[in-house]
Amino acid sequence: MVTGMVSPDLNSANKHFSPKQFRADFPALNSESVYLDSAATALKPKAMIDATMQYYTHNTATAERSLHHDAVKVTEAIKQARQNVADLIAIKNSSEIIWTKGATESINLIAQSYARPLLKPDDEIIVSELEHHSNLLPWLIVAQQTGAKIIKWSSNVDELTSLLSSRTKIVAITQMSNVTGFCPDLFAISQLVHQYNAILVVDGAQGIVHQPINVEALNIDFYAFSAHKLYGPTGLGILYGKKALLEQMTVWQGGGKMLKKASFTEFVVADLPYKFEAGTPNIAGIIGFNATLQWLKNWPLTQLEQYTDQLSQYAKTQLTQLANIKFYSVDNSPIISFNINQIHHNDIAILLSEQQIAIRTGEICAQPLMNKLGCHGVIRISLMPYNNQNDIDKFITALKNAMNVLI
Ligand SMILES: Cc1ncc(COP(=O)(O)O)c(C=O)c1O
Repeated sequence: MVTGMVSPDLNSANKHFSPKQFRADFPALNSESVYLDSAATALKPKAMIDATMQYYTHNTATAERSLHHDAVKVTEAIKQARQNVADLIAIKNSSEIIWTKGATESINLIAQSYARPLLKPDDEIIVSELEHHSNLLPWLIVAQQTGAKIIKWSSNVDELTSLLSSRTKIVAITQMSNVTGFCPDLFAISQLVHQYNAILVVDGAQGIVHQPINVEALNIDFYAFSAHKLYGPTGLGILYGKKALLEQMTVWQGGGKMLKKASFTEFVVADLPYKFEAGTPNIAGIIGFNATLQWLKNWPLTQLEQYTDQLSQYAKTQLTQLANIKFYSVDNSPIISFNINQIHHNDIAILLSEQQIAIRTGEICAQPLMNKLGCHGVIRISLMPYNNQNDIDKFITALKNAMNVLI
């Protein structure tokens, strides 16, 4: 782990991790099936489900608008949730946290509100080859709109030195690849990017789940992630942006609450964070995510990470014993991607599903990376601290059964 990544207050030594207790917090795990597709979306803890149910059953109300009892409580919960997100990524000012509908929307917001007005023809956006389509397509679109160029980068720090120039305006990189599990050295990258007065956009969709991050210490300009991969609800995303950048940006969407004044000829935008939050937010989602973050505070994140690393080693050791297997992922990663010679990845997915094992296969939203890896898709298992060795054993047995059918 890179120095400066960990948010110290989240890792206090007096918290205890019991894998059994952790697992017991997930109602979906009370069945025979095995869930190894958490990088697509994580299972949800009871605390999140209960809070969402409570909101819809007993406290339904809008936020930031009405003044009745439940509405005021909801507004307060959203404020608290914003603070909990700020604490999670170690930033001081919670008004730099914007609610979106996912990491994808967060990155599109940066591309359209920050980059589009700024970029001139021949300006450059450096994008790593590791990226999920969500951290590539928004840049391709804005490049088409402005005449800027996309520069392909391997994610290697030395190579970045040779790519950066006065034309570079933005560097976009993932915190953790959803295919290889590789985590670039964000500290070194950030230092280089800022030497050229460019800005650094980090896609934290996978990384935030396994590596607590200190966004301020790393001097990241924009950071995006989705609640649903971090045990939270779907349809909710987070965009962090430095205040000075968010303030200079044009508005993203128009509607209720993003304004101070409006007439038929003009409008005055609201202060941060509301400037970028037009319309009723995903109230149930934010309340559910707040409960997730409160629940997550009970667990020592570094111990969760160590446990998942060990589980990954165990899975990799078992997989290595199978014939004709080719790995694409780095060691000790919660993400393990591979192929088996002569077998189509989707055939494996279907045969595993018949044995109640959930995995992901295919291009997994990273076509350019698939081309680089020389394949048309992969078999991916992704691990969380709610998984255990028994899950891996069942997966390996099911995989052997599938291979016996297919070879
Ligand atoms: C690395 C990475 N970035 C971005 C995303 C997009 O997240 P969402 O679809 O929740 O917006 C994903 C989802 O798989 C991802 O793995």
